Order: sequence, then structure tokens, then C-alpha cells
Amino acid sequence: MKTQVAIIGAGPAGLLLGHLLRAEGIAVVVVERQSADYVASRIRAGVLERVTTGLMERLGLDARMKAEGIPHDGFNLADGERLIRIDIAALTGKQVMVYGQTELTRDLMEAADDRGLEIVYEAADVTLHDVEGDAPFVTYTMDGSEHRIDARFIAGCDGFHGPSRMAIPASVASVFEKVYPFGWLGILADVPPCNHELIYANHDRGFALASMRSATRSRYYIQVPVDEKLEDWPDERLWDELSVRLGPEAAANITRGPAIEKSIAPLRSFVFEPMRHGSLFLAGDSAHIVPPTGAKGLNLAASDVAYLSDSLIGFFRANDNDEIATYSSKALARVWKSERFSWQLTSLMHRFPETGAFERRMQIADLDYIAASAAAQTSIAENYVGLPL
Ligand code: FAD
Ligand code: DHB
Repeated sequence: MKTQVAIIGAGPAGLLLGHLLRAEGIAVVVVERQSADYVASRIRAGVLERVTTGLMERLGLDARMKAEGIPHDGFNLADGERLIRIDIAALTGKQVMVYGQTELTRDLMEAADDRGLEIVYEAADVTLHDVEGDAPFVTYTMDGSEHRIDARFIAGCDGFHGPSRMAIPASVASVFEKVYPFGWLGILADVPPCNHELIYANHDRGFALASMRSATRSRYYIQVPVDEKLEDWPDERLWDELSVRLGPEAAANITRGPAIEKSIAPLRSFVFEPMRHGSLFLAGDSAHIVPPTGAKGLNLAASDVAYLSDSLIGFFRANDNDEIATYSSKALARVWKSERFSWQLTSLMHRFPETGAFERRMQIADLDYIAASAAAQTSIAENYVGLPL
């Protein structure tokens, strides 16, 4: 098979890129390791920035998001007692959209056939070849036989564990990494949210987050040690812990219910440079990971794709090599700013093993400062809604 851009991975990065290129008539094939059902049922992020909703608008795939997504004007930081509201709409003139990654992915998958976006699901042993030259290709096996896709470019949108990043030699790469000594235990339940806006809480016992997917579906998280066992957290124990950590006001409004999904995700900051090598481009989690505090992971994948689609469209339309040459540096400039914000909010809101009495007072003092300072709130708000491209 021959195409112009072979995209590895049908997560948000790969699907968005595929649609944006198809909309310009560029030939694309997406190769995905998992089944369509598996991809469509993964529960992940929940808050979309303007860059992400803007791409869905540009694609004309925003109808369900507009109808079912919930625009938010603000969110809250809490310290176990009080709520500090960050009024993002008043401070930045922008909103964020609560619309699950699962829904966004579904919208992109369902539009694929109509838009001529070919997605090969359940492709095994996906391997990249000749990425340093002008004629790279991808091989995979399916039903016992090997397939080959020849392309002008390969887009590595295959997440943190995919093969694309590994195809770039260590001799030309730099890796920056911080692994946190805790994870997030998440629960999804069909109960109304405890608050109409998100609450990020720093409690003596550790971090908690109250989020939502709709007026009838809630998503909550608590910080747990990284080696915690899911079996040790029956639903009731988790609801009890959330009630303590989110503070009395939120606790009074928590509706308990059985978990639809419960999982533990580790926290990591990770950046791989460069994001281009020869004819291979990395986008999304294949190149970088942020801890989830601040909801930047999916949105960064979308901003990478905004840059990368422009670069590739410029190349195929006008033979413009400049955009391609600057993709990595442009994308990384934004990546690092999001890495900083996610790391800072994680540091402010979590309990670390080294958090002694002094460090705890520093966190509280920081929250006191934020509560009283319009400048501090504006800084948080402009990062939360997403920095401009
Ligand atoms: P992914 O969504 O990881 O997509 C990569 C795709 O590549 C997948 O479909 C995968 O199956 C495919 N793939 C992998 N290997 C291969 C291969 N060998 N061959 C072919 N295809 C392959 N962010 C937030 O902001 N908030 C959250 O609450 C949040 N929770 C998360 C929970 C978990 C468990 C994880 C893993 C991430 C979470 N994130 C969260 C981060 C966010 O979901 C990601 O940043 C986002 O999914 C990145 O999109 P992506 O398309 O780059 O990568
Ligand atoms: C959600 C996840 C986040 O990491 C975050 O910062 C806000 C919301 C969520 O899953 O709803």
C-alpha cells in the first residue's frame, strides 16, 4: 500500500492529525495496535482547551461536543477547608470544555469512513523502516501475513509505549524525566457531580480531584502510593476518603454510587527531544508525558497536531520545507510550558514523601497567596485555559 502520511496510533493525536490531513486531500493511513472497541472504551482525560475544541470545530465534528459538552468558567483549588475559585472566564476571557476524551475519540472514529480516513485496527508488530530517508515505510502483521505501507512521512502518534520514539537513535536524542512517587486512583460513577465546577484539593492526607463528564456522571481521583493495589480500595473506602480530602462543603454534596471504572495511573513528567528525525515526526504522548494535574496531556497532543498538520499541509501544497524544519522547536516550546505548569500544580497540590511540616506550610502559604492575589490567579488561569499556539 502507498500513502503520503502513515500515522501510527489511533489515539486523539493520530485521529485528529488523520482528519486534518484528509480534509486537505492528503492521503493518509492510520495503523492501530488495538481493536476499535478497545480504543473507543478507554477512559482518560476530561477537560478540553480552546485549541482542542477549535480543531474539532475546524473539522466540522463539533456538533455533539457543542450539544453535550459543558463549558466551564472556572475551577477551584481547595486545602481541606476552603475553596479558592479561579475565575478563568473573567481572568482570561476564555472557557474550558468538559467533554471526555472517550467522547472526542468516538466522534473522530465515527466520522472516519465518511471522510475517507482509513484506520487499520488490530495491526500487530508495527515497525518503522528507513525513517532517515525520503521513502520511509511501516510494516505490520495481520491474520498471519505481513503488510507494508510506503509513505513520504511517518507520524508517530503511538503514545508513551509505542515504537516510534524508539526508532530515533539515542545518539541524536535527549530525554528529560521525573517520576513521581504516587499515582492517581480514579473512579467513574453514574452519580451527579458534587460541585458544578472542578475541585483540586490539597489535603493533609493527599490530593483529591472532583471532576465530571456530565450532569449525571462523575469522575473523581485521589493520590495513592504508586504501589497501591486496586483491590484495597472497595468503592466505600474510596468515597470515604474523597469525602475527607475534598473538604466539608464538597463532602456534603457527594452522591455515592457503584464504580463503572476504577484504575490507578502513575504520574510522570517526560520530554523527548527532538520531535522530528528525518521523515518521522512525533506527536502527543509518544514525545512527552505530563502528570495529569491541570489536564494538559490530551490538549498538548492536540497542539502538537495543530503544528504538525500545518507543517505537512504546507509541504504537500507548496513544497514548503521550512514549516517541517521548525515543527520540533515550535512544538517543544509549548510542551515545556505545559510541563512547567503541570509540574508546578502537581507540586503545589500533592503530598510528597518529603513533605514535612515546613513544606506543608509552604503549600498552604502558596494557596493563601493565590487566594488573595489577582496576579497569581491570572497566571494559573491563563495556563489552565491553554497558552496560545
Ligand atoms: P494515546 O491516547 O496513548 O494514543 C496512542 C495510540 O497508539 C493508542 O491508541 C495505542 O493503542 C496506539 N499504539 C500504541 N502502541 C502501538 C503500536 N505498537 N502500534 C500501533 N499503535 C500503537 N490526561 C489528562 O489530561 N487527564 C487525565 O485524566 C488523563 N488520564 C490518563 C489516564 C491514563 C491511564 C493514561 C495512559 C493517560 C491519561 N491522560 C490524561 C493523558 C491523555 O489521555 C493523553 O495525553 C492522551 O491520550 C494523548 O494522546 P495520544 O494520541 O498522544 O496518545
Ligand atoms: C480530569 C482529569 C484531569 O487530569 C484534570 O486535571 C481534570 C479533569 C478528568 O478526568 O475529568
